[in-house]
Amino acid sequence: MKVLVAEKIAQQGIDVLIAENLQVDVKMDLSREELLNVIEEYDAIIVRSVTKVNEEFYKRAKNLRVVGRAGNGVDNIDMEGATKRGIIVVNTPEANTVSAAEHTIGLLLSSIRNIAQANNRIKSRVWDRSNLKGVELQGKTLGVVGLGRIGSLVAVRMQSFGMKVIAYDPYITDARFKKFGVEKKEKLEDLVQESDFITVHTPKTDETFGMIGDEEFKVAKKGVRVVNCARGGIINEEALVKAIKEGIVASAGIDVLVNEPNTTSPLLDLDNVVLTPHLGADTEEAQYNVGVTVAHEVVSALEGDMVPNA
Ligand code: NAD
Ligand code: MLT
Repeated sequence: MKVLVAEKIAQQGIDVLIAENLQVDVKMDLSREELLNVIEEYDAIIVRSVTKVNEEFYKRAKNLRVVGRAGNGVDNIDMEGATKRGIIVVNTPEANTVSAAEHTIGLLLSSIRNIAQANNRIKSRVWDRSNLKGVELQGKTLGVVGLGRIGSLVAVRMQSFGMKVIAYDPYITDARFKKFGVEKKEKLEDLVQESDFITVHTPKTDETFGMIGDEEFKVAKKGVRVVNCARGGIINEEALVKAIKEGIVASAGIDVLVNEPNTTSPLLDLDNVVLTPHLGADTEEAQYNVGVTVAHEVVSALEGDMVPNA
């Protein structure tokens, strides 16, 4: 059986596939057209977040039985289309959560202390400490939108900074809020009004896309600071740019954009925005976990065994 690895995964994951006598092609630089032209040859494909596995793709993937998503979010995969065709989709929801949580905190700290801006300045051989004053976290309120795997890791870690953590997540039990020592907010508006810092950790769905937008920035505290290490557009990008220009949002840490790859977003022009190119899961540990996990899942799915994250 043939597996196409279409985006970068750890070599250890590829080794797992090879050890199972699968024929593995690693082709990470295929154009969309090239991918559509070759996909018919494959029984399985492994992707990350860039490849769009949609109707156009399925129509050409005549022999495909398994899609392995090396990572968490499946918003780039048409699940209904897969189900309709009996294609199994597997992902690795647990494998990169710690890395994503730590990156969220890195973006928060970097943006509120101007670390990236100061680094740029000093590396331009300018020793200038003006206009780089930040704020402390201690005693402030962090609003977490989505208290799932990553949101809860962030919540617990930020409590050690002396922060009060509140969260909005209508889909979990009260016990889960209690377990993480987080105050439940029944309405998003309440969270937005009370937070000094807001971080979003929901999946990208019709309901969450743009859930922090003009209306929310209208009621937010002046000087609120935001982080998005989940999916581009959960914080509406145009509304964020506007809110930063109006001084409502004092800083933002952004790992994900609506269109990726992206080097033209207006957010790139704003000095108080710190951006990374979707690096939340890019650690040695997460990539090892993700690569090996997805490879084992793809093997199990091809062999017709039970797969935990199918
Ligand atoms: P999860 O499924 O464990 O948690 C998501 C939480 O969001 C759940 O508790 C759910 O109830 C809640 N939720 C869903 N809809 C909501 C809504 N409308 N309002 C409030 N809460 C809502 O997911 P996770 O593993 O914590 O991942 C969170 C996000 O991080 C996802 O978007 C995922 O794709 C993304 N992610 C990004 C990176 C990265 O590299 N930047 C890495 C891993 C995951
Ligand atoms: C994920 O959903 O797991 C992340 O966005 C990371 C990735 O796709 O590499």
